[in-house]
Amino acid sequence: MTDLFSPGSLGRLSLPNRIVRSATAERMADDEGRPRPALAQLYQALASGGVGLIISGHLYVDPGGKCHPEMTGIYDDKLIGDLSTVVDAVHAAGGRVAAQINHGGAQCSSETVPEPVAPSDITADYLQQPARGMTEAEILQVIRAYAHAARRARQAGFDAVQLHGAHGYLINQFLSPFTNRRSDSWGGDLTGRMRFLREICSAVQDATGPDYPVFIKLGMVDAVRTAVATGVEDGLTLEESQSVVAELESMGLCGVEVSGGIGNTSSRMRIRNPEDEAYFRDLARAAREVTRLPIMLVGGLRSRQVMEDVLESGDADFVSLCRPLISEPDLPRRMEAGQERSACISANRCWPQAPNEGIACRCTVQRSG
Ligand SMILES: Cc1cc2nc3c(=O)[nH]c(=O)nc-3n(C[C@H](O)[C@H](O)[C@H](O)COP(=O)(O)O)c2cc1C
Repeated sequence: MTDLFSPGSLGRLSLPNRIVRSATAERMADDEGRPRPALAQLYQALASGGVGLIISGHLYVDPGGKCHPEMTGIYDDKLIGDLSTVVDAVHAAGGRVAAQINHGGAQCSSETVPEPVAPSDITADYLQQPARGMTEAEILQVIRAYAHAARRARQAGFDAVQLHGAHGYLINQFLSPFTNRRSDSWGGDLTGRMRFLREICSAVQDATGPDYPVFIKLGMVDAVRTAVATGVEDGLTLEESQSVVAELESMGLCGVEVSGGIGNTSSRMRIRNPEDEAYFRDLARAAREVTRLPIMLVGGLRSRQVMEDVLESGDADFVSLCRPLISEPDLPRRMEAGQERSACISANRCWPQAPNEGIACRCTVQRSG
């Protein structure tokens, strides 16, 4: 039986409990991607609040993959010092932190990337602007950017790296037949569509060394139940993503966080009852069938009862939380002391409305004290 507060491990990284802070774009960086002091303060609060592992908000590996304003960067050595200040704040509070590294591809805001790239030419309702198919030279350059970003993460002191392979960003775009319509060796069948991920894993391991923990957040289905139509009906399917999961260990990865959906559809709204929680649990079960790697489940985990049920059933080894830890960064400590449920009502009012705001819980029901 796996208790929420029992230790676990991710590759060579030991974690004190089973609660993970899922990557959350904090919007606390300046125009060059340097984290503002607020980020270190937030991470210190999370680490002091008892979370087993913090996964950073997505960090852009290349200016051409900067998804939105105020995103934190990891695209240049000049950022290592500022990133290490953030890491040091976590370690000083006794916590652990992984860097989530990402390239937005087609899903970059027009404010940050006026001419975005993608596996192939794409125009879609859910995209702000059309994107252009990449040349092979551009693909190889982006793979090198991931490798350098992972090397910088290690140099800055991050305990692990997570590749963002979910929510419609570039790795997901290569895997999905909706966005990858290439006919060369980077597209076509699933083996071709997986090549970008495989080569990133290999380059990242060469850059960080074989023992450094590298894991992935994988979107296992593109089309999910949502109020907002993305129009991605013929995207990545569960059958194909199971085949991807089956390959992750051979790619040298040490764990998988299971998610789904494109963009914000991964953050389902109005989670009020236990039946609404853990809405990607079926995907975790599908992953479990084909891998021995540790599995993290994200999406709607709110009550201790459901979190423990997920762990005890063996569907996942870790539970990963985003919005509840925006609302209450010390939720793990509160739960250890007897609080049964997160105060988060999943109204998605935590996204910033104005520059310099950063993520914050703006729901009036936020619990106090
Ligand atoms: C404000 C906000 C920012 C997010 N930023 C990221 C991100 O940078 N990387 C990522 O993989 N997911 C991101 N997500 C998705 C969450 O990590 C998570 O998968 C999703 O919200 C479901 O978990 P929850 O129900 O615990 O919120 C973000 C979600 C929110 C609400």
